[in-house]
Amino acid sequence: MSMKWTVYRDYAAMSRAAAAVIAVQVRAKAASVLGLATGSTPIGTYQELVRMHREDGLDFSLVNTYNLDEYLGLPPDNPQSYSHFMWHHLFGQINIDPERVHIPSGQPEDVNRACRDYDRAIEAAGGIDLQLLGIGRNGHIGFNEPDFYLRTETHLVALTEDTIAANARFFSRPEEVPRSAITMGVGTIMKARHILLLASGADKADVVARMIEGPVTTEVPASILQMHPQVTVLLDEAAAGILMEDERRRRREDQA
Ligand code: GLP
Repeated sequence: MSMKWTVYRDYAAMSRAAAAVIAVQVRAKAASVLGLATGSTPIGTYQELVRMHREDGLDFSLVNTYNLDEYLGLPPDNPQSYSHFMWHHLFGQINIDPERVHIPSGQPEDVNRACRDYDRAIEAAGGIDLQLLGIGRNGHIGFNEPDFYLRTETHLVALTEDTIAANARFFSRPEEVPRSAITMGVGTIMKARHILLLASGADKADVVARMIEGPVTTEVPASILQMHPQVTVLLDEAAAGILMEDERRRRREDQA
């Protein structure tokens, strides 16, 4: 099964396309269950959804959301927490019911129980209709890092040095960067009925090509999405650089 990908001129165009996919889902089913992501990549998508809410009346009042992950140790009011990120960029600016917002707790009393409860809550809500994903430079999705194995269920994870380094730009001191997180597992993600993965910028070009054209391997956790029946990959030109080069080469070879 090959993954379908679409290239947009730039980040803004990719973000508008991603928001349009989410809006179609929400309009088709008012009580949609959305899996949401953080990182710099979906910010433009969220801005566009806020605009659609304000200008086109896109209604989130019955929408349920489950976020992918949260740093361990950060309270929701910490500006670097993913909870804070979500309220700042999206939830605080649309008519979502706070009761329908779910983000793994960064300070659970009992981590294992909290993880189990998170998966159960997703199941009880009927499963995720549409899961939004970014991709880490090392191929992680959520915080499912490259390793010898992948965990299927929501779990506590030690972040790789690469991810800690990539996240350091958001923190004022290196020792403040969390070294572990709670993340949906790949099984939780793969159960979503539709997956929408976004990637932007040249520093993602290599991992995007490995996700789509490489073998399915735990070294590139996102490559497992090759086995999902409905994945939409939206890229800007920079992130699609290697894929487009590979395609041009294949065409030249076919003609020769
Ligand atoms: C973080 C998040 C991921 C996200 C990734 C990429 O580690 N846990 O969900 O996809 O970073 O972030 P960015 O979009 O900023 O490149």
